[in-house]
Amino acid sequence: MTENGLGMRVFPSLRRMEADVVAMVAGLVGGDAAVRGHMTSGGTESIFLAAHAAREWARRHRPEVAAPEIVAAFSAHPAIDKAAHYLGMRVVRVPTGSDFRADLAAMAAAVTPRTIMGYASAPTYSLGVVDPVAALGVLAEERGLWLHVDACVGGVLGPFVRELGYPVPAFGLDLPGVSSLSADLHKSGYAAKGASVILYRDAEREACGRWEFSDWPTGLYAVPTFAGTRPGGAIAAAWAVMHFLGAEGYRQIATTVMQARERLVSGLARIEGLHVWGEPDLWAVAYGAEGCDVLAVADQMTARRWSVGRVRKPPGIHLMLTPVHAPIVDDYLADLAASVATVRAGAGVPSPSPAVY
Ligand SMILES: Cc1ncc(COP(=O)(O)O)c(C=O)c1O
Repeated sequence: MTENGLGMRVFPSLRRMEADVVAMVAGLVGGDAAVRGHMTSGGTESIFLAAHAAREWARRHRPEVAAPEIVAAFSAHPAIDKAAHYLGMRVVRVPTGSDFRADLAAMAAAVTPRTIMGYASAPTYSLGVVDPVAALGVLAEERGLWLHVDACVGGVLGPFVRELGYPVPAFGLDLPGVSSLSADLHKSGYAAKGASVILYRDAEREACGRWEFSDWPTGLYAVPTFAGTRPGGAIAAAWAVMHFLGAEGYRQIATTVMQARERLVSGLARIEGLHVWGEPDLWAVAYGAEGCDVLAVADQMTARRWSVGRVRKPPGIHLMLTPVHAPIVDDYLADLAASVATVRAGAGVPSPSPAVY
C-alpha cells in the first residue's frame, strides 16, 4: 500500500496492474490496439489531462489558435471548467436541448476558429443522460476538434447495462472523432477512491498529454499524469476489485441498479405530480414536481433522515443508484409520498439554502 506508482521501474508489479486495468477499461469502451491510457486519482485529474493534451495537440496542429476554447453543454461537469481555468483556456457553455442532452446544432453554432475541443458526457451527472457522442464525433472531425468523452460515471458499468439490452447510446473510443475518454474506477468500477482511467485514441494524442522536464540535477523527469508520486495502493486496489468482480460481477451490479431504477421510476409515477427529468440512460436519475415545490420535498426527505441530492436547473432531486439502494427503494418511495403530501398540505417551505454539489 505504500509503494509509489511513479516508480514503475522499481515496482514492476504496479506497472503490470496499471496496464491490466487500462486494458480492461479500454476493452469495455471500444478501444483498439492503438489506444493508450493511464490510471489517475479521479475524474478531475483524467479530465484535466484530456484538456491539457487537447491544448498541446492544438499547439502542434492548429498553432494559429492563441486563445483556445472548449465547447461544452450546460450539463457538463465543472471539472472541465476547473481544467480550463488552470490551463488558460475558456469553456463556452451551450444550453442543452429539450431532452437535456447536448444540442448538436447549438454546439456546432458555438464552434469558432478558436475552438479546439468539444466535450460530451456519458452520462451527465445531474440528469443521467448520455450526450449524442456519435454526432459530436462527426462534428469534431469536420471542425478539427479534440472530442473528450466524460464517461467518468458510465465508463465501466455502462457497457454492461447496454449488454443487458437497455438502449444506452454509443459513447466509446470506437466512434470516429473521439480523441479521449475518462472512466472512473472509483465510481461505477466500484473500486476504492482515488482511481480513474484516462484513455487516448492513439500514441500521438497520449504523447500530447505527457509532461517532460530535464533542466535539473537528476535528468529527465517525464510523467504521463498530473501527480508526481502516485499511490500504488489505489492501483492495486482497483486491479483487485476489477478481478474480484469480473464481467459477471459487473453484470450482476448492472442488473441490480437498473432493476432498482425501474422500481424507483414506476414508484415515482404513482406519486401525484412527480416526474423524471429527461430519459435517464443509466442509474443516475433526477425528478421534479408539478404543483408543489420539489426543493421543499427535498427538505422533507432530509427531515426524514434521507441524504438528498438537489438539482438547480431544472429543479429536482437527484439520485445516483448503487446496489445499496436496491433493498430500500420501497422505504424511500413511502417517505417520498409522505413528504409530497406534507408539502401539498402547505406545511413545507423550501429552505433558502441553494443546491450544493
Ligand atoms: C460526470 C462526471 N465527471 C467528472 C466528475 C469528477 O470526478 P471526481 O470527483 O472523481 O474528480 C464527476 C464526479 O461526480 C462526474 O459525475
